[in-house]
Amino acid sequence: MKTKLVCFAGFMICLASFAYAQLSGAGTSSYVCFSCHKDQAKDWATTWHSRSHIDSNPIYKAMINYISRVTYQPEESVLVGCAQCHNPKMTIKEISSKDSFNLAKVLNVETEQTKRIEASVGDANIKDGISCNICHNVQEINESMNMEMRGFKAIEWGPNDVIYGPFEDDGRAGIHKSVQKEHFTNSDKLCMVCHFGGNNANKIELYATGKEFLGSGETSQRCADCHMSTKRKGIITPEITRPGTTANEREIRSHLFEGARNSDILKETLSIDAKSEGSNLILKLTNLTPHKAPTGFGGRSMDVKIEFKNGANVLDTQIYTLETVYVDKKGKEIVPYIAASIKSDNRLTPYETRKLSIPKFRGATDVKITVTYRLVSDRILKLINFSDATFNKDYPVASLDLKL
Ligand code: HEC
Ligand code: HEC
Ligand code: HEC
Ligand code: HEC
Ligand code: HEC
Repeated sequence: MKTKLVCFAGFMICLASFAYAQLSGAGTSSYVCFSCHKDQAKDWATTWHSRSHIDSNPIYKAMINYISRVTYQPEESVLVGCAQCHNPKMTIKEISSKDSFNLAKVLNVETEQTKRIEASVGDANIKDGISCNICHNVQEINESMNMEMRGFKAIEWGPNDVIYGPFEDDGRAGIHKSVQKEHFTNSDKLCMVCHFGGNNANKIELYATGKEFLGSGETSQRCADCHMSTKRKGIITPEITRPGTTANEREIRSHLFEGARNSDILKETLSIDAKSEGSNLILKLTNLTPHKAPTGFGGRSMDVKIEFKNGANVLDTQIYTLETVYVDKKGKEIVPYIAASIKSDNRLTPYETRKLSIPKFRGATDVKITVTYRLVSDRILKLINFSDATFNKDYPVASLDLKL
């Protein structure tokens, strides 16, 4: 770590610049922020932003392991590309002379290069994932619609002694300067850095949440409105007092980055409307979000289960799945990152109402419709040989009972 030592003007300045360097330096972790910003830290710790490093997200690890096996590359070679968004401050950005690195790994010999790359991947300062010193160190964003220019490629990091955020500096923090930036106040640019979308090596689109959002025409709601809570009045770190400054009341939000696992956000995904019409059941599913449902990681899916019943007896069950299916050159299902094409994508588009007409099952008096969400389909779990209680699970979205 480069520490700016300007000690000639006295011990205090030296100490202050050391603290600044500690605070948000490109190589530092966010632990120093947690001590003062307990509310933000508590919320953020529940989110998977805090687990985007290979050592804390088991499915990310399993996916990298799988890709490495089927493409005959060491895991590190795969991971360096993924880190573009998952660990944008990882020091190694690409592996030069890939062949010699791959060979050294195959032969299990340690070279200067293998040591440097392994140290970079295992660097303790990047293990807290998309943390405070990622988002709040973003000085400028090179806005572009280019799927390749995401993650660190879209970011200009600021100096070590500055925090970028939604407010002007009022001197109260003391330990850090604060600079107000538009990407925290009035735009979705910060989220778009990683969530706009990405391409795999075959130019197949992945994670196009931001692109979907821009195509939706939505102008009144931002990512933060739904994923960080509505604004409320509050004082940042109220326990800190500083002579000569008063604590301003601010419009603040939670740092939950609400997703399927740490919130009830799935309940806001869609509305179901159903009616009986002649010999058919007419089912309408309306996406209430300005991006696809489901959106994000290519393994996400939703099952619409339709149970025709007679009283309590289930006579027939049909399942309609909303998902993207990625395939290899031979048309076999594969994970998004190495797919040659998208075979199908029937997810609900932003604000779409989809009407399904389903023949009623003979003898049915009732129907029950249940929508559930999966983080990863069973087929992909099987493909990458991964199993875990968080991922092998149906998350409730919506349900409806109707007399036929
Ligand atoms: C994924 C990006 C991201 C991460 C990670 C993140 N923040 Fe923020 N933070 C934001 C955004 C965006 C806002 C502005 C929200 C608004 O007002 O619209 C914000 C606002 C704040 C504020 C102003 C008060 C408030 O809560 O609105 C503080 C303080 C803050 N963040 C501290 C932290 C700390 C400490 C961490 C680490 C535990 C952290 N942030 C992690 C994006 C992030
Ligand atoms: C010694 C305590 C302390 C530490 C450590 C600290 N902060 Fe702060 N920070 C404060 C206080 C106090 C404020 C409130 C200033 C105000 O009310 O305007 C603040 C304000 C902020 C804001 C809002 C101002 C803005 O620019 O929008 C953000 C964002 C923020 N801190 C992020 C961080 C991050 C990220 C870290 C770690 C790299 C960090 N802070 C470390 C005390 C601290
Ligand atoms: C530097 C890249 C980056 C930025 C900037 C970023 N994200 Fe993320 N986000 C990620 C990654 C990577 C994941 C997946 C982490 C994992 O599951 O390992 C993620 C996951 C999420 C999730 C799912 C979280 C969960 O707990 O399941 C939500 C919701 C989300 N981000 C919203 C946002 C919003 C809103 C913003 C803007 C305020 C934002 N992100 C900014 C990279 C980023
Ligand atoms: C009107 C509220 C709303 C807005 C605005 C919104 N989202 Fe969402 N988002 C949702 C809901 C509801 C879900 C859960 C269903 C789904 O996957 O579509 C979701 C899901 C997600 C997920 C997957 C969460 C997970 O658990 O893996 C990500 C990532 C995400 N949104 C990012 C964004 C980004 C980035 C923006 C802005 C470009 C945004 N969202 C705007 C409501 C919203
Ligand atoms: C363009 C930026 C970007 C790149 C590059 C990227 N990811 Fe992601 N990744 C994300 C975002 C954003 C999410 C969160 C989406 C969501 O929650 O649905 C995510 C989520 C995931 C998830 C789901 C995690 C969970 O907790 O559910 C896996 C697995 C994953 N990524 C694997 C990879 C692998 C493997 C690579 C490299 C081959 C990679 N990613 C490259 C942005 C990226």
